[in-house]
Amino acid sequence: MDIDKNFDTQHIWHTVTVPLLANAYDILIGPGILAELEGDLKEKFLAPRYIIITDSNVEKYLGTDLLNLLRQARIQVDLLAFAAGEKSKNIATVIDLARRMVALGADRQTAILALGGGVAGDIAAFLASIYMRGIPLIQIPTTLLAQVDSSVGGKTGVDLPEGKNLIGTFYQPRRVYADIRALTTLPQAEVRNGLAEVVKYGMIKSPELFEFLEKNGQGILDLEPRATAHVVFSSCSIKAEVVAADEREGNLRRILNFGHTVGHAVEAAALYQIPHGEAVAIGMVVASRISVAKGLMPRGDLERLVSLLEGLNLPRKIPQDLHTEKLIGLLQHDKKAKAGRISFVLCKGIGQTLITDEVSKEELASAIDSTRGL
Ligand SMILES: NC(=O)c1ccc[n+]([C@@H]2O[C@H](COP(=O)([O-])OP(=O)(O)OC[C@H]3O[C@@H](n4cnc5c(N)ncnc54)[C@H](O)[C@@H]3O)[C@@H](O)[C@H]2O)c1
Ligand SMILES: [Zn+2]
Repeated sequence: MDIDKNFDTQHIWHTVTVPLLANAYDILIGPGILAELEGDLKEKFLAPRYIIITDSNVEKYLGTDLLNLLRQARIQVDLLAFAAGEKSKNIATVIDLARRMVALGADRQTAILALGGGVAGDIAAFLASIYMRGIPLIQIPTTLLAQVDSSVGGKTGVDLPEGKNLIGTFYQPRRVYADIRALTTLPQAEVRNGLAEVVKYGMIKSPELFEFLEKNGQGILDLEPRATAHVVFSSCSIKAEVVAADEREGNLRRILNFGHTVGHAVEAAALYQIPHGEAVAIGMVVASRISVAKGLMPRGDLERLVSLLEGLNLPRKIPQDLHTEKLIGLLQHDKKAKAGRISFVLCKGIGQTLITDEVSKEELASAIDSTRGL
């Protein structure tokens, strides 16, 4: 991608402030926002040197251009890349990157620019939080999922062979640059993956966002700049609000798990051959069916969810070969299940949630059975 400094799209730029008590920071969103980076770094976050941490794909699409742009602006910067993919999200990659940083002479004043999707973001942010006991971090998310989800909230970490995200820290960036134009090289399947989380934000907090998706689905699938910027802005605002309120009240963050309880079981049962976003889409349908069966959610809202997912090319049904007993077994062994009782985020209608552990095995089995299809 070329970073065009004269691209006139500033009128569709947005800012979200994440109002954390000790570490408030801004997320800048819009097409072409990366053109601001160099000026902003010089003005506000001047560090003696920077290290871009990215994966091998993003290095090609964007990393080298960004490196050259910053170097032309006489900023001291290097780039370290690791092999793209979740398989790299482990402690060995973190140690390897840390050692390469030592070799480059990076010290406590060096700042990390985390460039890429959720994998690069989680690895680079984790490294920033522990390298010499913590160095400044700036996030530059380049997948829709990273822009609407993983770059907001300060969770960092890596996987263990025993499970995902088992080692990590909370660490806030100084600033996030979400450039919509960086998404243009993203495969369509990755766009849909991020959109499932956007639908989730509509379901848990925002009838307006949900309606916007219903009206502009195709434009967003095509990454039309104005619609995409709006969707990223709304999503970040919702996640920022939930994360900040959670800091004060605790436990609120759990509503972000809507669709994820069954979603995780679907991913595990399918041996991770179903992408996360698709599993979350299915999980949202099951959670909504339970909500309808309990008389909490109007049936019409379930129908709207199903047709929105259809319009966004996301699945609505559990594959035939994932058996109900298998899924329920996985749910009961989920690390969040207490004494075999599964805690569920249900929906009281588009935009409203309810957390309960009063979902019986029979209710769950019935919702799973009615969500099955080809
Ligand atoms: N920290 C959090 O709060 C949080 C929240 C949700 C998910 N996550 C984590 O995020 C990860 C998933 O993130 P992801 O879906 O972004 O995966 P990812 O980082 O692996 O990116 C997906 C693919 O897209 C490629 N890519 C990235 N940007 C691109 C671009 N602009 N053009 C072309 N290709 C590009 C990547 O190289 C990769 O192949 C998981 O590890 C998950 O645990 C973290
Ligand atoms: Zn998710």
